[in-house]
Amino acid sequence: MKVTVVGAGNVGATCADVLAYREIANEVVLVDIKEGFAEGKALDIWQKAPINLYDTRTVGVTNDYSKTAGSDVVVITSGLPRKPGMTRDDLISTNAGIVTSVTENIVKHSPDAIIIVVSNPLDVMTYAAHITSKLPRTRVMGMAGILDTARYRAFLAEALNVSPKDIQAVLMGGHGDTMVPLPRYTTVGGIPVTELIDEETLNAIVERTKNGGGELVKLMGTSAWYAPGSAAAQMVEAIVRDQRRVFPVCVRLEGEYGIDGVYLGVPVILGKNGIERIIALDLNEDEKQLLETSRGHVKEVMDALDNINAAKA
Ligand code: LMR
Repeated sequence: MKVTVVGAGNVGATCADVLAYREIANEVVLVDIKEGFAEGKALDIWQKAPINLYDTRTVGVTNDYSKTAGSDVVVITSGLPRKPGMTRDDLISTNAGIVTSVTENIVKHSPDAIIIVVSNPLDVMTYAAHITSKLPRTRVMGMAGILDTARYRAFLAEALNVSPKDIQAVLMGGHGDTMVPLPRYTTVGGIPVTELIDEETLNAIVERTKNGGGELVKLMGTSAWYAPGSAAAQMVEAIVRDQRRVFPVCVRLEGEYGIDGVYLGVPVILGKNGIERIIALDLNEDEKQLLETSRGHVKEVMDALDNINAAKA
């Protein structure tokens, strides 16, 4: 299996590293526009192979998409990260141009690839990649739900003093402050979380999760990379190994949850064809309302992108 990761910054390099050391692909091509940057990162990861004992070949290229030809999966991490004081939506005009041009190059050389978008604002960059690629919606998706759920699970594990492995959770909606963690679907070793934690602590964890990316931007002056890069690699693994894992993934909804034409995180089954199935949960009225707020927000940013594109045309 051949996987391309576009963008050799922190997120892209972390993703490539996980893909390599977990031998998720035989070949990983790392692409960047900065001369020598991807080559250097790929070489460094390759030189780690004899230490960490893997044989995945990592190759770096400067903007040469011919080397990505025939990729089975492509992860797009390119674009600017946000800085303290910015929202993800502030990145839209710069990152939309980048994601659009990267997608054009990807589809030209790997028409059969499945595309995973990681760039922000995530839901709208997934929209940009999808309309540019003209691929079926099952093959162009965004990574955010695994990351947001991981943050939620990590905070819960800390509060309950249990292993994060035993926390299962679903989270829906856009990758931003309007995301919808679902305590009703959260379990700890099969036990509903509400039986183990008081409401106030749980609500505080939900709020912390919603601001999870911002918390890290504030601490580091730039956005996170270990969890985002690993989350993208986990999606690649589910696809290349046809694992049929159940993850929250951003996809264009076409009637599911009563929503049409908006890109939102929903639980899906991920396998060799990309999104094998979208799982429709029976949400209660409160959850439906939260999802509707998230839909409204993402739609606004999608409209902003349409206006940017119309002004350019
Ligand atoms: C994240 O959640 O870590 C990413 O979306 C990056 C960001 O700007 O928060």
